[in-house]
Amino acid sequence: MAAQPTADLNFIPEVAAPSVPLGPVAEAARQGLTASPKYLPAWLFYDANGSRLFERITELPEYYLTRTERAIFAGYADGIFAAASAAYQQATEGTVSSSAEMPGKLRVVELGAGTATKTGILLAAAVRAQGETEYLPIDVSPEALQEACATLERTLNSVAVRPQVANYVTDTLNLRPHTGPTLALYIGSSIGNFSPDEAESILRNLRAQLRPGDSLLLGTDLVKDRAVLEAAYCDAAMVTEAFNLNVLRRLNREIGASFDLAAFRHVAHFNAAKSRIEMHLKSVCRQTVRIPSLHLSVSFEQGETIHTENSYKFTAAFITGLLQASGFAPAKTWTDEKNWFAVTLATAV
Ligand code: AVJ
Repeated sequence: MAAQPTADLNFIPEVAAPSVPLGPVAEAARQGLTASPKYLPAWLFYDANGSRLFERITELPEYYLTRTERAIFAGYADGIFAAASAAYQQATEGTVSSSAEMPGKLRVVELGAGTATKTGILLAAAVRAQGETEYLPIDVSPEALQEACATLERTLNSVAVRPQVANYVTDTLNLRPHTGPTLALYIGSSIGNFSPDEAESILRNLRAQLRPGDSLLLGTDLVKDRAVLEAAYCDAAMVTEAFNLNVLRRLNREIGASFDLAAFRHVAHFNAAKSRIEMHLKSVCRQTVRIPSLHLSVSFEQGETIHTENSYKFTAAFITGLLQASGFAPAKTWTDEKNWFAVTLATAV
């Protein structure tokens, strides 16, 4: 009699959970999409396509942040540089080290430099004041740093660019030693993506790498009329919608998820109690999205959202408190005529 296949031979075991650690994108998706409420971290926006979409956002008529900050830099770059130099001189006056050695030149460090499109204005002021200037852009994206180097070295040949690939949010900063003052830039309201606690720890991490008299230049978007804020994150050309949805496209491509982009809508609203714009992706129907690589099925109710970004909006009092709590003394603030955006210079104490 021919052998009958046993039940055992028909049993296909569940694929065991992978023992290799997940990559950062997969890990972020697993954590955020199994949480309640669902979320995805904002850094996931910035793949090559997302970075291009963000550059387009900065040129939208409704997105006033970039052009307002750029105008402040254009109007006051020399004053900003002079104030940073003066703070250092004042702090180091009469100390043994400054009388014993020639004070070195001011160097510029930038957190989350990206492609450094606005930084050129500040670096040009540094070159006017002192000639040769060292610039240390720090970013998680090697491609963005590559582009920053290329543009700056082409336009400003007195700037020596020394890029550093690092995640200033998750890792301890490690700046090379320097004899003169350091001016650290944290501009573009990039700090607005973080909760007040996270923002404080990022600034403390930076402060630990500075000496008294060094400076921080912080760019922050200010609280204003709700309609102006919401339009900046829900533009007529719908570039911000494409930017938001791109995170799902990225998960489809990079970890084999099966999001139907037409089944999610872009939502942006100002949460006044928390002083932040929130961006979400709202499921238009009840649906289940499979992510085989994570052995995960994610179910959505109709109207349920994935929270994809917070963009905090600041008041002068909040900025002062945040700086003081992180070891800085606010020295001077520059703003635009509508008081929509603030650029604050603070001295490490
Ligand atoms: C790069 C964090 C400053 O919050 O305005 C723009 C990102 N998101 N439109 C911001 C963003 C949607 C931007 N930051």
